[in-house]
Amino acid sequence: MAGDGGSLLPGQLAAMEGAALVSAATEPEERAMEAALRPKNLDDFVGQARVRRQLSLVLEASRMRGRTADHVLMSGPPGLGKTTLAMIIAAEMNAPLRISSGPAIQHAGDLAAILSSLSEGEVLFLDEIHRMSRPAEEMLYMAMEDFRVDIIVGKGAGATAIPLELPPFTLVGATTRAGLLPGPLRDRFGFTGHLEFYSVAELELVLRRSAGLLDLKLTSAGFSEIAGRSRGTPRIANRLLRRVRDWALVHAVDSIDARTAGAALDMYEVDARGLDRLDRAVLESLVLKFNGGPVGLSTLAIAVGEEPETVETVAEPFLVREGLLGRTPRGRIAMASAWEHLGLRMPENTAAAALGQTSDDSEFE
Ligand SMILES: Nc1ncnc2c1ncn2[C@@H]1O[C@H](COP(=O)(O)OP(=O)(O)O)[C@@H](O)[C@H]1O
Ligand SMILES: [Mg+2]
Repeated sequence: MAGDGGSLLPGQLAAMEGAALVSAATEPEERAMEAALRPKNLDDFVGQARVRRQLSLVLEASRMRGRTADHVLMSGPPGLGKTTLAMIIAAEMNAPLRISSGPAIQHAGDLAAILSSLSEGEVLFLDEIHRMSRPAEEMLYMAMEDFRVDIIVGKGAGATAIPLELPPFTLVGATTRAGLLPGPLRDRFGFTGHLEFYSVAELELVLRRSAGLLDLKLTSAGFSEIAGRSRGTPRIANRLLRRVRDWALVHAVDSIDARTAGAALDMYEVDARGLDRLDRAVLESLVLKFNGGPVGLSTLAIAVGEEPETVETVAEPFLVREGLLGRTPRGRIAMASAWEHLGLRMPENTAAAALGQTSDDSEFE
């Protein structure tokens, strides 16, 4: 993720600001705000009707059986509610919650320490579970299936495995890249919830709820304006709301309408379609430096000064969904509408043109 590598490449800062729109909160103030706005139970959780229904059944059934809930995997792009749902699962099961993440578990011993200190029925949330080390992953298989781990004591020929019984617990894993999870791990989850991008109407509900909690006044059109620029993502909706709140405060606006919201977000370089700086950097690179591709993910990431994983998980899902970017076996390509969105005319010799796409389809009607 942005910032992991220590020093910054030129151009990385701008891209980071874009990525910061969607990636997990890092500043204390931001974290406090996220915590304050997080729905605490399933009924307050907006949208994702299918996942909510499925999850509610899983939890209800385990409550009726008086057992800990099955292990649950949450998959989907950042900011759609994976962490929130993990917390809701613990709350709905009236169970304590332990939080860790794949990158924090580099050795099997790290995981053993966590597992061996769990209490009965505890919910263990492992964020970014696809980034756990291999040995830890293998230990997790056994823990999930048999509630047991083997603690290895000693080294080499003298090493012995001491089996350790674990109390029943519920693992909630979250991943932005379910495809990267090894099959055996995926198979050990009793239920996988695939989170989808939210509709504008759902985001309006998220925003209404947040505005209520923050004591902000917006008109209906004000809510729609922000929702329309939120890229289908509640985290972004809440961040944009905060930016709009700042703008309204400074400009002494007390009821925020569409014009106020639009003006505020234009200033923060979130365009009418919700593209932020990282999205535009990716599209501009693809179009201007690579003539629309195809270009490999890592080359594209270098061109925008970002980690490939950030480009792939933060920018691409949205750009693909918007029909601006395509993934082909030979690499990423800009679709005809990318030129259009950037206010440019698509040259004839592009990958998109070869696909039979034109920047103005009506030309051929
Ligand atoms: N369905 C939802 N309803 C209301 N708010 C939501 C919903 N999903 C996410 N949020 C808000 O968006 C923010 C990010 O959600 P989070 O669960 O941290 O996303 P993820 O873990 O998938 O990256 C949280 O502050 C939460 O309040
Ligand atoms: Mg999260």
